[in-house]
Amino acid sequence: MKAHFLIRHDQAPKAFEIREVEKPIFQTDEVQIKVEGFGLNFADVMAMKGLYRDCPPLPTIIGYDVVGRIEAKGINVTNVAVGDRVTALTRFGGYAEYAVTKSAAVAKISEDLELGKALALSTQYCTAYYCTEEMTRLHEGDKVLVHAAAGGVGTALVQLAKWRKCEIYGTASSHKLDYLQTQGVHHPIDYRNEDFFEVIQRNIGDAGLDVIFDPIGGPYLKKGMKLLGSGGRMISFGASELTNANNLFSKMKFLWSFGIYHPVFFISHSKSLIGVNMLRIADNRPKVFQRVLEKVVELAEQGILNPTVGKVFEFEELPQAIEYLASRQSIGKVIVKVE
Ligand SMILES: NC(=O)c1ccc[n+]([C@@H]2O[C@H](COP(=O)([O-])OP(=O)(O)OC[C@H]3O[C@@H](n4cnc5c(N)ncnc54)[C@H](OP(=O)(O)O)[C@@H]3O)[C@@H](O)[C@H]2O)c1
Repeated sequence: MKAHFLIRHDQAPKAFEIREVEKPIFQTDEVQIKVEGFGLNFADVMAMKGLYRDCPPLPTIIGYDVVGRIEAKGINVTNVAVGDRVTALTRFGGYAEYAVTKSAAVAKISEDLELGKALALSTQYCTAYYCTEEMTRLHEGDKVLVHAAAGGVGTALVQLAKWRKCEIYGTASSHKLDYLQTQGVHHPIDYRNEDFFEVIQRNIGDAGLDVIFDPIGGPYLKKGMKLLGSGGRMISFGASELTNANNLFSKMKFLWSFGIYHPVFFISHSKSLIGVNMLRIADNRPKVFQRVLEKVVELAEQGILNPTVGKVFEFEELPQAIEYLASRQSIGKVIVKVE
């Protein structure tokens, strides 16, 4: 089979190489999938830049989500059958013609679910659903802030918050503000040109926000903690801003800029800081991941969740696809077709 290997930490055209290798072998609780297309995630950009701790040693095949057909399965797999069309979270290995993953990370999908929409479900929508439905509870009228709200996870968070009838503040680069409005964000904020802290504080005064979803980290998280009201929850699930740090000193400075919090602070202010890493959930709580994936697929099949497919690339165009995601231009899901 053909696969894109990450061979060095560099700009995308030099970082990846297409190689011919054997199809991956599967264990008794795993499935082998013939890949129709794979999705890109911001973690792939971090891996390319050498900023992603979970990335296996190079050369390696990265990639978290695939859609395709079950080609073969282990004897203990009961939730899907050979020939089923599925969406799946792969533990790397997604940028290829065939991929292998645990059966708990796979869900059957309908034949007519659009490839890009199906690809958005396994990582980005599962992350968002886990954050909104399992790590916090959104209620009607809750004031929530979604950072990077036009991206893959961001779009999913906005749709889930809208489903729960929340009042949504959403940040994005300026050219995405119209998109945020069409998605139902009540207060789109161009956070690269205005201070989201001041804009929101002007709007809500001392009342504070109920929930913040923060994939950026550093000073964004620190300011966010100040915007939370009593009972407020900060869901911290990324550190996109780390991609701007290009030496050890700037990385340390970034880590420092999150702030330091003592448990007494959380008790006395009645605020929470919740960390989320879906890889840990998929690895260590496979039943939880499976429950979330099945729920997300059900909501998408019902049309309650409707992923946005930002751009579709051909197999050979992987470097362009990843550069596009890294450039902050993309909206929704970026995918690569294989078949
Ligand atoms: N913890 C988990 O389990 C988990 C799972 C999935 C994703 N994530 C995290 O969630 C975030 C979003 O992931 P995604 O795959 O959905 O990507 P994405 O949001 O589709 O793309 C990244 C977007 O982040 C925004 N951004 C903010 N600061 C940035 C920076 N310094 N450099 C580049 N982009 C920046 C950009 O949008 P604007 O310019 O419009 O702001 C960019 O388009 C990432 O931080 C990712 O690591 C975490």
